[in-house]
This record gives sequence, C-alpha cells and structure tokens, in this order.
Amino acid sequence: MDFLEIAKSRYSVRDYKETKVEREKLEKILTAARVAPTAANKQPVRLIVVQEKEGLEKIGKAANIYGAPLAIIVCSEHTQAWTRPFDKKNTVDIDASILTDHMMMEAADLGLGSVWICYFKPDVIRQEFKLPDTLEPVNILAIGYADGSPADPDRHASQRIPLDELVHYEKL
Ligand SMILES: Cc1cc2nc3c(=O)[nH]c(=O)nc-3n(C[C@H](O)[C@H](O)[C@H](O)COP(=O)(O)O)c2cc1C
Repeated sequence: MDFLEIAKSRYSVRDYKETKVEREKLEKILTAARVAPTAANKQPVRLIVVQEKEGLEKIGKAANIYGAPLAIIVCSEHTQAWTRPFDKKNTVDIDASILTDHMMMEAADLGLGSVWICYFKPDVIRQEFKLPDTLEPVNILAIGYADGSPADPDRHASQRIPLDELVHYEKL
C-alpha cells in the first residue's frame, strides 16, 4: 500500500483484541518516533511505553484506552523546548504530536490499530508515573489489534471537510 492508501484505511480503533503487540512491531513503532523531525532538532519528547497490567491499570485511572494491550504516553520535556524568538511560541506540543503521528502511521502500516487520546487526566498520569514537573503528558497512543470491522477507507468523503474548504491557494 502506498502512503495515501494507509492514511485512508487508518481509523480510530476503540475495540481491541487481547493479543499483545509483538516486540519487533513495537520496536518499529518506536523507531518511527525516533526519526520524526522536531523543531531545531531539539527532540524534547519522552515516551513511556506501557504494556504490563499494572501500568495499563494506572493509565486506566486517567483515560479510557479501550482495552488496548499497549499504550504509549507521549510527553513533552519543557526544559528542551524550542521557542520562536518573535512571539515566544513554544513548539513542544507540535513536536510531541509529530512523533505521535509517526507512530500511529507506522502502526497502521504494520496492520495494527490505534487511537490517539487527549481526553485524559494529566494530573493522574503525572502522579501515577511520577513524572518530573518539566515533563508534560501530551498524548496517549493506544495500540493493538482491532476487533470488529474496519472503517470504510472512503469515509472521508463525508467525514472530512471538502478540499476546497480546507485548502486556499495564494489567498484565503
Ligand atoms: C489530538 C487528538 C486527540 C484525540 N483524542 C481522542 C480521545 O481522547 N479519545 C478518543 O476516543 N479519540 C480521540 N481522538 C481520535 C479522533 O476522535 C479521531 O481521530 C477523529 O474523530 C477522526 O476519526 P478517525 O481517526 O477514525 O479517522 C483524538 C484525535 C486527535 C488527533
């Protein structure tokens, strides 16, 4: 499959089989994160990979991960952030999200389902995983083998805004 086919066939999976994600596949997913670009190559992101029952239960106190056997907590390290000098905009959340997207797409390429989760209690994640104050949990990516039937790869025709609403050439 080419990239666009993978992108169209990926969907948010909210029902998982119990099957564990193989170590080789996890390593590929983590490598996809590692090669992702970050602003000024500062790499201000840390990943917490959670697969054990105890850790998944800790995440369960903060978020619904839909029974996924693997969750990756994507954290921004604020001490290493790049800041745009003109307006002091800090890009750590962008960096964290690029890594998350790389992992999500690699998972899709490997035949795995995933769902990107921002609806979680950050204070609970901080407490349960004893995060230092500088490390902010930004995204959780739940990954595993999808249960149930896949979403239609052509659903975007109705589930996304039209291209001419999204894209403006030369002027808005
Ligand atoms: C930044 C972000 C945050 C999201 N947070 C959640 C979440 O907390 N829980 C959830 O079930 N889905 C979450 N999603 C998944 C979106 O709801 C989903 O991607 C969107 O509805 C499009 O559906 P699709 O992924 O199946 O194409 C999130 C997605 C993104 C990109």
